[in-house]
Amino acid sequence: MPKISQKGLAMPQSPIRKLVPFAENAKKKGANVIHLNIGQPDIKTPQIALDAVKNNQLNVLEYSRTEGSEAYREKVAAYYQKNKISVTADDIIVTTGGSEALAFAMGSIADADDEIIIPEPFYANYNGFATASGVKVVPVVSKLENNFALPPIEDFEKLITPRTKAILICNPGNPTGYLYSEEEIRKLAKIVLKHDLFLIADEVYREFVYDDKEHYSILQEPSLEQHGIIVDSVSKRYSMCGARIGFLVSKNKEVISTAIKFAQARLSPPTYAQIASEAALETPQNYFDEVKTEYVARRNLLISELEKLDGVKVAKPQGAFYCIAELPIEDADDFAQWLLEDFRVNNETVMVAPAAGFYATEGLGRNQIRIAYVLDQASLKRAVHILGEALKTYIC
Ligand SMILES: Cc1ncc(COP(=O)(O)O)c(C=O)c1O
Repeated sequence: MPKISQKGLAMPQSPIRKLVPFAENAKKKGANVIHLNIGQPDIKTPQIALDAVKNNQLNVLEYSRTEGSEAYREKVAAYYQKNKISVTADDIIVTTGGSEALAFAMGSIADADDEIIIPEPFYANYNGFATASGVKVVPVVSKLENNFALPPIEDFEKLITPRTKAILICNPGNPTGYLYSEEEIRKLAKIVLKHDLFLIADEVYREFVYDDKEHYSILQEPSLEQHGIIVDSVSKRYSMCGARIGFLVSKNKEVISTAIKFAQARLSPPTYAQIASEAALETPQNYFDEVKTEYVARRNLLISELEKLDGVKVAKPQGAFYCIAELPIEDADDFAQWLLEDFRVNNETVMVAPAAGFYATEGLGRNQIRIAYVLDQASLKRAVHILGEALKTYIC
């Protein structure tokens, strides 16, 4: 038999999706599964975006420009300027989702065996992109007790080696919901400048910031002009995950011209999706206000219900739509599978994402789960009730 590559064998499974066969099995047996495992919002996509595709009179569904259509990038630049991020169309590459922007960013700045420091827990697919690029993820631990705030700068400095190329943050964080403050971004700026590193910020949840807090982008920090790379996406902003449109944004011309070479290899981002995403930029403000109000209500409900459960600890998210909960169990992988295979309340169960896959340090997060609060409040309330009943049965 021809052999699979070492890289292929090393590719991690997604902790978000790996239990899907068990969920499918539960559904086949007639159970309802409440999906807390995946960040697929139930929020309606803006009608204006759907209509733009529906009403389009294209005769040929052509490739677009490699870096995305000029008209769209001009408008995206205006969106950033409105958000106090001073960039032009030339600083933006339209990608096939934020996922591709992450792959381009790593490919453009790091060689095999180079290192990227990432506060953990982190978006699990960073592991996948790093493995695909041969890059080593060096985790720096952030803790539930501190709400997953930025770890002390000394912890980063201890990990910097001649192979370190970048620090990667997610702000606000998936899976933590933590929002880095302006002061924390400044601290990171200082360290990347001192050691001449890149700072990659995954800002796909920029709009999802709660409690009157404001998002501070790395490209609002003037000193980061040549060191900062933003990864962005329309997936969550307009509940358009299936459009597959994202952005790589940098004022560093070498980063952009290098990333464009990666982009040329895949020819262009999807044409219809750019049409939808361009129209989505006209989404009225009240859409975002309503969505935010809904997420705040969901977060408040979820956290207050989880806090009522014996032995459960949870950090209060200030942004995005995820939280990490620590459970009074040893192995969340086993618990999550057992929920799907063996536990029902009124023929319903829940699917959660075991959190170990969001850590790179072996053994961390084993008693934690990630919950996405992307479902209506009634479902969330039922889900936490089921979790509580399940814990009682599982523990004894
Ligand atoms: C933190 C983070 N970054 C990037 C992505 C990838 O998003 P996209 O759908 O744009 O590829 C996701 C998707 O869930 C995410 O949560």
